[in-house]
Amino acid sequence: MTNLQKTPEQTPARWTPDGGRDPLAGRHGAIGTSLPRIDGPLKVRGQARFAAEVPVDRLTYAALVTSTIARGVIATLDTAAAEAAPGVVLVMTHRNAPRMAPPAVIMTDPRAAGASSLPVMQDASIHWNGEPVAVVVAETQEQADHAASLVRVTYREEPASLSFEQAIAVGRHPDTVLGEPAVIETGDTETALSAAPHRIDRVYRTPRHSHSAIEPHAVTVWWENGDLVVHDATQMLHMTRYTIAGVFGIDEERIRIHSPYVGGGFGSKGPWSHHYLAIAAAKLAGRPVRLALSRADIFRVVGGRTTTEQRVALGARDDGTLTALVHAGTAAMTTHNNCPEQFTFPARHLYAADSIRVEQRVADIDMVANTFMRAPGESVGSFALECAIDEMAGELGLDPIEFRRRIEPETDPTSGRPFSSRHLVKAYADGAERFGWSRRAASPGALRNGDWLVGMGVATATYPYYRMPGGRVRITLSRDGRATVAVAAHEMGMGTATVHTQVLADRLGLSVDHVDFQHGDTALPAFTMAGGSSQTATLAAAAHEATAALLEELLRLAGNDSPLAGLTADEVEARDGGLGHRGARDRFESYASILGRAGRDAVGAEGESPMPTETQTFSMHSYGAQFCEVRVHAVTGEIRVSRFLGSFDCGRILNPGTAASQFRGGIIMGLGLALTEETQFDERNGRIMNPSLAEYHVPVHMDVPEIDVIFTDIPDPHAPLGARGIGEIGITGVGAAVANAVHNATGRRIRELPITLDKLL
Ligand code: MOS
Repeated sequence: MTNLQKTPEQTPARWTPDGGRDPLAGRHGAIGTSLPRIDGPLKVRGQARFAAEVPVDRLTYAALVTSTIARGVIATLDTAAAEAAPGVVLVMTHRNAPRMAPPAVIMTDPRAAGASSLPVMQDASIHWNGEPVAVVVAETQEQADHAASLVRVTYREEPASLSFEQAIAVGRHPDTVLGEPAVIETGDTETALSAAPHRIDRVYRTPRHSHSAIEPHAVTVWWENGDLVVHDATQMLHMTRYTIAGVFGIDEERIRIHSPYVGGGFGSKGPWSHHYLAIAAAKLAGRPVRLALSRADIFRVVGGRTTTEQRVALGARDDGTLTALVHAGTAAMTTHNNCPEQFTFPARHLYAADSIRVEQRVADIDMVANTFMRAPGESVGSFALECAIDEMAGELGLDPIEFRRRIEPETDPTSGRPFSSRHLVKAYADGAERFGWSRRAASPGALRNGDWLVGMGVATATYPYYRMPGGRVRITLSRDGRATVAVAAHEMGMGTATVHTQVLADRLGLSVDHVDFQHGDTALPAFTMAGGSSQTATLAAAAHEATAALLEELLRLAGNDSPLAGLTADEVEARDGGLGHRGARDRFESYASILGRAGRDAVGAEGESPMPTETQTFSMHSYGAQFCEVRVHAVTGEIRVSRFLGSFDCGRILNPGTAASQFRGGIIMGLGLALTEETQFDERNGRIMNPSLAEYHVPVHMDVPEIDVIFTDIPDPHAPLGARGIGEIGITGVGAAVANAVHNATGRRIRELPITLDKLL
């Protein structure tokens, strides 16, 4: 607990209409409508060009050769046959690769994006099974792939840390968990637990997951007189540029990264070893290089979600209040990255308990660096916590929604801060009504339909609000009444370009077809990563600052001959393609007129997302209630999700269409987490055993029922535009909602993901 928190009264709300900061937050125009995705027509026509599709003269194609041991050194490396193969331009190994510095690792420096601090192809040492040992560059992809198959490598193996159980035994606390302490303790949980009239104490396990975005990772790169051009699939343009500049020891200004379209990122679309290898190979070959990872490559050279073992212990009184809440455990990590899978984050903020203890440990494994994957931590942490809550509700004989109502906290249970806006109880009530929760059988195994056992489960979804400082945007108004918005933001398919076209249209009093949104290029004003579901809030804040500056400039240009003469910025608003007095409708001048009288073709201004003081004052989180109905076959154990509803409380919803799609996509990914997805890691040799979508099962159409999505749409007074971000919360709670439904259907409690049918037999 900290005594340093401020009350809401001490710190005026930055973005509220009352604070005079963001009058737009209360107004509807384009915001709040389901404008269809403006990049949609290009994508369905195949005209949106992705990183592996950029046409370039004299292009070469690269293929990777990866290690087959987890730890040791390369003993022999024979590239002669590959070099002699048809079409081969170059075989690069540690023997001829240019010198490269180790990448700066994400979360260690605000600008760094590297996934691992290991040097890339600089010596003969091997650090994980699947590490690149050679890059073959050829005239065609087929020639490169064939020649790569001819590279012969032998190894001298060294003992590796591959057993999670053994690594847990010698585990450690990470320095921080995304800037938060690894351990938080309020009161003596173990004493409270032993004295509690009701107690559960469980261990939950979750496996590795691999990123399976529809667009495989790819770069097309070339050098031009010492300048570097990169066509990338990235969700962190400027951080990638900074990291590449460090690896190659060149000035950032000499690197231009284009990434207008990204086919899904989920946390994985940052710089990995293939970036540095392609750039190095292009240097050696003196030609452009395309390195598009195969599906198998993605499993081996791009990390994903890591495995966890989590203990949740709860102590409760007869009245359903909690005396103790413990959430502690270990995630597998490497010694060369910094991604401890923050699975205790939900337990820090969700429920009231007399005493709370959370603890995160990591166990060092020799594997590809794990990384962020949609709601890292929260997705698997909410599985453990929300299953345990369901188990305790059963213990107490309480409906699980009623139990959660009784442990709803008044202030943040670990920080003591006031909530900026929290309507979880309403999200549950709305969802229960719409889903027909009252039809759920209170006792497990009670409802049978032929050979199918039917059950319902519920779980809380939650994800923090993040807004990044420093992202910049430039807005230019031209005399023809159009606006151009320039920002190095990222469109990964979530609707960035669409939503910010709406936001800027409303800010500037223009129709959406008068706003051109430019993004996905490091030549545009530097922006922060599309991560932590932060991009919308960050961009909204930067746009707020930019329009404020633009307004001042427009009033200055309008001068004394304008109907606006004498008005201050607070007295005017943007409307109908110009500025007008907030009260008097007839005091108005169009942008075209202001610019025309001033003899200007255009006027522009920049703004930057300021420091996020709101998160130092308030506990800011999004919430949701996930409702699941399953049918479990009584004979085969086959599990079918028959209905699903997500009821979300994420602040104002800026575009209900793109938002529902985000929530639904998150829920579908959650169904994979619950039922099918598992990256199988062979603990004898560190080999990933199922590196393909044939054997790593993501949900397909047959697995996905109709998914209903509703939201409270209650603006958060402390977030720009009242919106808290929605990209990641959809996946959270889904694993537990499914597991709880399976328990309600069958009476079987499965505490290890994925819930495959063998675990039910
Ligand atoms: Mo998200 S895992 O920060 O792309």
